Amino acid sequence: MKHDKKQLSPVILVTGARGQIGTELVAALRNIYGREQVIATDLHDATTIVDLEGPYHQLNVLDKDELENLVATYGVTQIYHLAATLSAKGEETPLKAWHLNMQSLLNILEAAKDHKLDKVFWPSSIAVFGPSTARKISPQNALLDPQTVYGISKEAGEQWCAYYREHYGVDVRSLRYPGLISYSAPAGGGTTDYAVAVFHEALKNGRYECYLSPNTALPMMYMDDAVRATLQLMNARVEALKERGAYNIGALSFTPAELATELNKHLPDFTISYSIDKRQSIANSWPASVDDAEARRDWNWHPEYDLVAMTADMLDHLTPVYKNNNIATVS
Ligand code: SER
Repeated sequence: MKHDKKQLSPVILVTGARGQIGTELVAALRNIYGREQVIATDLHDATTIVDLEGPYHQLNVLDKDELENLVATYGVTQIYHLAATLSAKGEETPLKAWHLNMQSLLNILEAAKDHKLDKVFWPSSIAVFGPSTARKISPQNALLDPQTVYGISKEAGEQWCAYYREHYGVDVRSLRYPGLISYSAPAGGGTTDYAVAVFHEALKNGRYECYLSPNTALPMMYMDDAVRATLQLMNARVEALKERGAYNIGALSFTPAELATELNKHLPDFTISYSIDKRQSIANSWPASVDDAEARRDWNWHPEYDLVAMTADMLDHLTPVYKNNNIATVS
């Protein structure tokens, strides 16, 4: 179905739709705009997916021709470009991660320019920050000195987005996501993934071995808040957006030890141990929290989930999943 530009509902293409953010964002967008308006794309073959709940296409976002073909065929008006290699995985194959993260973004920006799309969303990350940034409440306009290929690609990506906005009028919007915590789809390849894995292991085995030290504080956010922030930013009037790069957004800041203490309130027998690996040095280069004053000012950003509410909601959703083989006591 080709989109009639006069229609009010946008036609939205999402890359990385099967990933941690994509899974929830596609569902939220379909709730708002209708199933048929949201074209989910990812690397997976459609025949291997059991729960297709709307249009889906297998797409390697490095394949510019296929991307443009989908944009033209569906009359796409907005793209949410979520496909990327995250921080820890990116360090294993730096050039491959750079190529995927950068070339895919350039393909999307070119498609947005050539097909005159209304809007593009592209996530940046707290990984743009580095050792020279204040550890606590990192400001929006801090000097960026990323230490990972992922972070370098996000810093460069922010510049490319500003370039396309400035030179070609592409309305591309971006957030510096913190570590995201969710129950629907697994996190993969990030440094902050422990904060998801610990819930599954606590419910499955009653214990978790953490690869970060007990006192490593990082910025985190519950997925519900991340989806809301993304939709709020995308729906904001363009004139209100004074920040040309990607907005800092804050919500939670906690350490593995603090999360374990919170989990113990629900699962008294849960234990955590520590076996620190290479991800610690990535975490050490990131701030513990960010200053999101600009997001609050420009589009009224307010997180809803604190550590207590996030932990309770994660357990509410995941406990039934592990009910049959759960050895931990849920109080
Ligand atoms: N969650 C990401 C990572 O750990 C940070 O944006 O790589």
